Amino acid sequence: MNAPGDNATALPIVLQALDGRVPKRTPIWMMRQAGRYLPEYRAVREKAGDFLTLCYTPDHAVEVTLQPIRRFGFDAAILFSDILVVPHALGVPLSFEAGEGPRLKPVVNGTELAALREDLDPSKIDRVLEAVTRIRAELPRETALLGFCGAPWTVATYMVAGRGTPDQAPARLASLIDPVFFGALIDRLVETSTHYLVAQLRAGADAVQIFDSWAGVLDPEAFRRWSIEPIRRIVAGVRAQVPGARIIAFPKGATLSGLTELVRATGVSGVGLDWTADRPATRYALGAKCALQGNLDPLTLIAGGAALDMAVDAIVEDFRGAAHIFNLGHGIRPETPIAHVERMIARVRGA
Ligand code: CP3
Repeated sequence: MNAPGDNATALPIVLQALDGRVPKRTPIWMMRQAGRYLPEYRAVREKAGDFLTLCYTPDHAVEVTLQPIRRFGFDAAILFSDILVVPHALGVPLSFEAGEGPRLKPVVNGTELAALREDLDPSKIDRVLEAVTRIRAELPRETALLGFCGAPWTVATYMVAGRGTPDQAPARLASLIDPVFFGALIDRLVETSTHYLVAQLRAGADAVQIFDSWAGVLDPEAFRRWSIEPIRRIVAGVRAQVPGARIIAFPKGATLSGLTELVRATGVSGVGLDWTADRPATRYALGAKCALQGNLDPLTLIAGGAALDMAVDAIVEDFRGAAHIFNLGHGIRPETPIAHVERMIARVRGA
């Protein structure tokens, strides 16, 4: 017999895990699940012309968000957009050069920061929010919809350098040489990201993820100041407006002690783990405190075969009985064979 709430009207299993419950089967989605490894994504991308047009055209953003759900039936959809939409909506010129990644007009001092908008330009953000509402309306009820933003530290690394950098040296230097400017930049990102996540949740997102992709370059003290503390303020600010909001933090490259401190300080509902995480130790430290999401190496997914099967089994086994959401340890790469994605999903669901 099903208890009330365990039947077709039950909460999506990704949200069950974020509430600290152990779902009947392991939920699965993939970071960058809408992307270049899919021919149907490449077709829409070509039609849109450039990446930002894709992000700001609700018809396109809705379509590419739903593509991996239709093809694979993932347990969560993630809004198709980009973390750099936030600086763009603050007035920073942004473009994506083919094969080279993002280019922004760098923001390197207080004068340049003061020239930006205080709030996010509604002519940009409203299009993203329209996509959120339409995606939620089209998704199956059992599929959770995730919104997201970049963590202030990671977004700031792109704003200061004007591009992706191997070691985030420009932002690390700015934080050391001009901490007043850098702190003000982080403050602006905390305020606008809080507003942006609240708007996504009100538009229909069921949960949100904060991507701190470059957290791993920070020493413990800088990690506290530039990763944990801004995320803590965002979580508190969002929950002040949306009580009980489900929030996942993904501080890529964080140590277990860093992760532990982040979970304690912020009260996030879940943490993303990259592929270097020591799963048993992480489960022991955090398994009773929040959901654990991850952590297949995206290269293992490219490799496929026995290496993939063994890695999937180890992850499922290490987290069996925990509030675990299967995912990759970072975004899927464009060269990944679709057959390997199908094999991973079947194995997670059959295990
Ligand atoms: O996960 C999803 O499917 C949702 C969409 C999404 C994208 N970017 C689409 C995208 C999400 C959640 C992001 C987050 C993002 N964007 C992060 C954090 C996560 C991470 O990967 O670490 C970062 C650092 C960015 C910034 C960014 N956007 C870079 C550095 C690049 C260029 C590198 C690349 O992969 O091309 C992008 C472009 C981008 N964002 C693409 C996609 C699908 C490729 C654009 C294309 O079609 O050419």
